[in-house]
This record gives sequence, structure tokens and C-alpha cells, in this order.
Amino acid sequence: MSVTNIFLISGCATQQVSYQNDVVPIFEYSCIECHTSPDGIGYKATGLEMDSYQSLMQGTVYGPVVVAGDSRRSILNMLVEGRAGKPQRMPHNEDEVLSSAQIETLRNWVNQGAYDN
Ligand code: HEC
Repeated sequence: MSVTNIFLISGCATQQVSYQNDVVPIFEYSCIECHTSPDGIGYKATGLEMDSYQSLMQGTVYGPVVVAGDSRRSILNMLVEGRAGKPQRMPHNEDEVLSSAQIETLRNWVNQGAYDN
């Protein structure tokens, strides 16, 4: 394990993430267009609506996509990080893959407890 990894894991460089200020803008820019009812194609396919904290935490018709405190097990993080493979990567439009800073923000938010803060 490299020194950088140790710092990231121990949280030295991690500041408190705000759902309203940090997470919502990412969703609004990259996700909502497809994950809103009644016409978003991601909503139609899975029932996942991302325009409120409550609906996000409800997840899809199959269950939650955010496991508070555990980004490794959260489907949402898996998909934006491309851990589930390229075809599943979110957002679906290839040219709009999230930046590593945005991916990090979502990871930290989940690991810090996925609060509505
Ligand atoms: C261009 C449309 C589109 C955009 C933009 C989009 N999605 Fe999706 N999303 C879909 C579709 C369609 C599905 C249904 C499953 C599939 O086709 O892979 C889906 C499914 C999902 C699922 C559920 C996967 C499962 O297996 O239960 C999650 C979580 C998800 N999207 C998260 C996101 C996040 C986070 C963003 C923004 C970073 C995003 N999506 C942006 C279209 C989109």
C-alpha cells in the first residue's frame, strides 16, 4: 500500500461532505435527467429517482443503492467508479463520466454516513 492510500484511508485529507452543497450539484448535472419520474429512462428501468434525498435512499425497485457508511458495497459508488464494468458505468453517456474529484466526493459522502446534511 502506498503512502497516499494510507492518507486517504485514515481520512487525513478528507473533509466533511455536504449532501446539499456537494452531492446534489453532481446529481443535478449528471444524473437527474435520466433518474426522474415519470419519464427518465433510468427511472423507468429501475425506479431509481434521484431528485430528493428520500427517493435516492429508497433506491430502485430491487432495493437500496446506497449503503450508509460503506461505499465498497454501495451500488451507486460501484457504478460511477466503473467497478461493475463499462456498460454499467453511470452516467450512461460515455463522454460525461464523473471526474475523479466528483467520484471521491460521492465516496466520502457515503463513507461518512450518507447524511442528509
Ligand atoms: C443517460 C441516462 C442516464 C444517466 C445520465 C444516468 N443514468 Fe443511472 N441508469 C440509467 C439506466 C437506463 C439505468 C437502468 C440500468 C442500466 O441500463 O444499466 C440506470 C440505473 C442506475 C442505477 C441502478 C442500477 C442497478 O443495477 O440497480 C443506479 C444506482 C444509477 N443508475 C445511478 C446513476 C448515477 C449516480 C448517475 C449520475 C452520476 C446516473 N445513474 C446517470 C440511465 C442513466
